[in-house]
Amino acid sequence: MIRVAIPNKGQLFEPTLELLQSCDYRVSQRSRSLSAFDEENGIEFFFLRPGDIPIYVANGILDAGVTGKDFVAERGVSVTNVLELNFGHSRLCVATPIESKITKIEDLISLRIATSFPRIVSAYFKRNDLKLVELEGAVEISIKLGIADAIVDIVETGTTLKQAGLGIIGDALFKSNAALIAHDGWEQKPELQILRARVEGHLVAEEYMMVEYDAPSKILDQACMLTPGIESPTVSPLRDSAWHSVKSMIRKKQANSVMDKLAHLGCKGIILTKIESARI
Ligand code: PRP
Repeated sequence: MIRVAIPNKGQLFEPTLELLQSCDYRVSQRSRSLSAFDEENGIEFFFLRPGDIPIYVANGILDAGVTGKDFVAERGVSVTNVLELNFGHSRLCVATPIESKITKIEDLISLRIATSFPRIVSAYFKRNDLKLVELEGAVEISIKLGIADAIVDIVETGTTLKQAGLGIIGDALFKSNAALIAHDGWEQKPELQILRARVEGHLVAEEYMMVEYDAPSKILDQACMLTPGIESPTVSPLRDSAWHSVKSMIRKKQANSVMDKLAHLGCKGIILTKIESARI
């Protein structure tokens, strides 16, 4: 049995639950429970604050967890990055009121900066004497409440900043996304190997699609060059020897352009289908 942490709130909560449920893990947070036991898969899930997850995993109290890479960096602990996940993309940015005269990140050195990420901010400015106001959340409101002149906080869509009348200054201090992290030696745990394989399968399925088409035999090589697949495309002769049937995985982002090119070559019956999960 392994113990795995998942975020109990914030922007990472729902995508993490959806990911695990789509990988057939039985996990849901009923009536604000703090843990959920998936007996069939041998995993006990713990709902924790995203910023605390790196500590539990680094100490080995929990075997693995899903959290943002910004939270890992802020805690300054050592964990293994098992898989990069395709959600939770965010930036840690400096923001000030839109009407503010502060225009450069360097201007912040003498000002009060509210943040939940003091370690990353201090490391960025390479100073220990910043006037940091450490807050747990809702950092965007701190300027209006009069305890800070600027903030450093997570920006995903930018909606929260906009609602607070704030604007970003300069480049991001840190770029983040969600990750599956684990304690050293995770490879020895079969349940964790399976978790990794299932999640990776889900990520591959989101990135690829399956294309099937009939190709005139005389242009078969050209068509296969457009759809090389992972190892090699599946090619089957049709009853009519002038044609072959081809099946291959292609990247979702290129799917329509590949279909256009196949049609241009004279391929027929081009069908694109979604992949639910894949091991490649
Ligand atoms: C984060 C962050 C911002 C918000 C930014 O909060 O702290 O408040 O998301 O997202 P946006 O740019 O899409 O508006 P989160 O909901 O994860 O939880 P928190 O309030 O506990 O920080």
